[in-house]
Amino acid sequence: MANQDSTWRQAVIYQIYPWTFHEDMKRMPQKGVGSLRGIIEKIPYIREELGADAIWLSPIYTSPMMDGGYDISNYNDVHQDLGSLQDFKDLIQEAHQSGVKVMVDFVPNHTSDQHEWFVKSRKREKDFEDWYIWHPGKKDEQGNRIPPNNWASVFSMPNKRSRNEGNFPDLNEGDWTPPVSAWQWDDDRKEYYLRTFAKEQPDLNWSNPLVREAMKEVMRFWLDSGADGFRIDAINHLGKNMHFDDEEVNHAYNEEFYDNPYDQLLKENSCGYWGSLHGHVWEITEVLRDERYEDRDLRIVMEAHMGESDLRQLNDIAPDLAATFNFGAMRLNWGVAERKIHLDYYYQNLSEVGIANQVNGNHDEVRLATRCGDSIARTVAVMNFFLPGMRFVYNGEELGLHNAKVPHEKTRDHENGYRDGERTPFIWNESEKNAGFSNAESDQLWLPVNEDDFGISLNHQKTDAKSSFSLYKTAIKLCRELTSIQSGKYESLQADNAEVFAFERRSDNEKVVVVVNFSSNTQRSRIATDFTGGKIILSSIDVDQNPRDVNLEDGVDLKPDEALVIVAS
Ligand code: GLC
Repeated sequence: MANQDSTWRQAVIYQIYPWTFHEDMKRMPQKGVGSLRGIIEKIPYIREELGADAIWLSPIYTSPMMDGGYDISNYNDVHQDLGSLQDFKDLIQEAHQSGVKVMVDFVPNHTSDQHEWFVKSRKREKDFEDWYIWHPGKKDEQGNRIPPNNWASVFSMPNKRSRNEGNFPDLNEGDWTPPVSAWQWDDDRKEYYLRTFAKEQPDLNWSNPLVREAMKEVMRFWLDSGADGFRIDAINHLGKNMHFDDEEVNHAYNEEFYDNPYDQLLKENSCGYWGSLHGHVWEITEVLRDERYEDRDLRIVMEAHMGESDLRQLNDIAPDLAATFNFGAMRLNWGVAERKIHLDYYYQNLSEVGIANQVNGNHDEVRLATRCGDSIARTVAVMNFFLPGMRFVYNGEELGLHNAKVPHEKTRDHENGYRDGERTPFIWNESEKNAGFSNAESDQLWLPVNEDDFGISLNHQKTDAKSSFSLYKTAIKLCRELTSIQSGKYESLQADNAEVFAFERRSDNEKVVVVVNFSSNTQRSRIATDFTGGKIILSSIDVDQNPRDVNLEDGVDLKPDEALVIVAS
């Protein structure tokens, strides 16, 4: 399919964290965790009610669940608590019939230590010896064995500040420790292995052609099972300097600014190393070019935490097939200048064939409404829906769900459950058992239901024309109907009020301007564009109001935190 026609170009992609989305009520006995059949039951919700075009499933693979499913022990099967391969195929069939594409998570950097490849590699079994990154280590001056270099683990957060109060009972805020070494001693093989994340997640050796081929085979397995593409996990970590040079110290590190001891080092050798990263990303994207996928509209989105210029280089490797998440916008301070500079840079530097994206949150980030507050969460949502590219919605974001305070004894995520707060169950209907998530006993649930959010259940919001859900639904519908939003370029506009940000999208016969008030006071601003009269068709605050006239030359009135969508009349 020609890339310009790709249906991913303006797609709304709904991210599902499968463990806490929905358990099908027919399953006996109920397990207290979400299931693939539970997702199938909610396809009408995702497609017809919300209006999304695709789903991305966080890992559904067999896993000891050390890292929320990102520790995979079998890439070619579904975790038995979530369902079976047949369920996956049924999900694909139902989704495709409803016009929903399905993206699966692909985790290439590491496996679980329970994966048979690692079990064999640990025993130095023939052909598997070099599947992981093994090293005998070095000797210090006293002759003691030490790791080969100073590379650190991303999961170095013993003193990370509390995000869910009560989860860090013993930790002393501000008392920083050095990062955890990325090298783990293995008593069986008598060598260190590299593990960029948890010690149960050994890094695969991508310099070994057998590993590369095996991982490409995994991709083919899921494409052949009907998947429409991949969200690729931690892809920048595939770029490693295999001479294992030390990382330099990050002299800018200070605990006020950085929240992870891992950032005490610069990252130029242990990840994001272009000498190998470019080739590996190229090889991965090439899988999608195989003749047998010629008629498919396949797509990759890459997770990489890197600087903007490095992200640009990643985006330029196979722009017709793969782009990185635009996390930059999510992390910005809330201000007009920052936003304008970021978006101008982002859209100007995207290749013609590339597909942009906007993302407000995911299973690793504090939920949008907790991070920004309820009001700004709505502003951000409207602004991002009307920007060019794929728009990601993390399940529950459409309701404005908040991070839950998970009691310490119920945490799941390693390192004191620091990401559990954003992973608690979806709130379907507060009057049903466990808010409609599962019929299991509440103490059996994977994570507890957040009762604090019962007042904003989907059930409540469906009939409330001003609710967050109604806003998402209306915005998605409008985006689909407006030709300028389907095809128009982004262009930032001049506003004569420093608290107001505006941009334009246009098609041959339609012009749309989005005006955003970045302050918590009312504002008035004139907007420089070539049309003066327009109609306000959406407000992030008064979702259900009738379209009303506005004159951009005289000035647009905005309520605190309001985002308005205006069509030229
Ligand atoms: C990615 C995932 C995160 C996981 C990590 C290691 O950042 O989003 O959840 O812990 O990779 O796989």
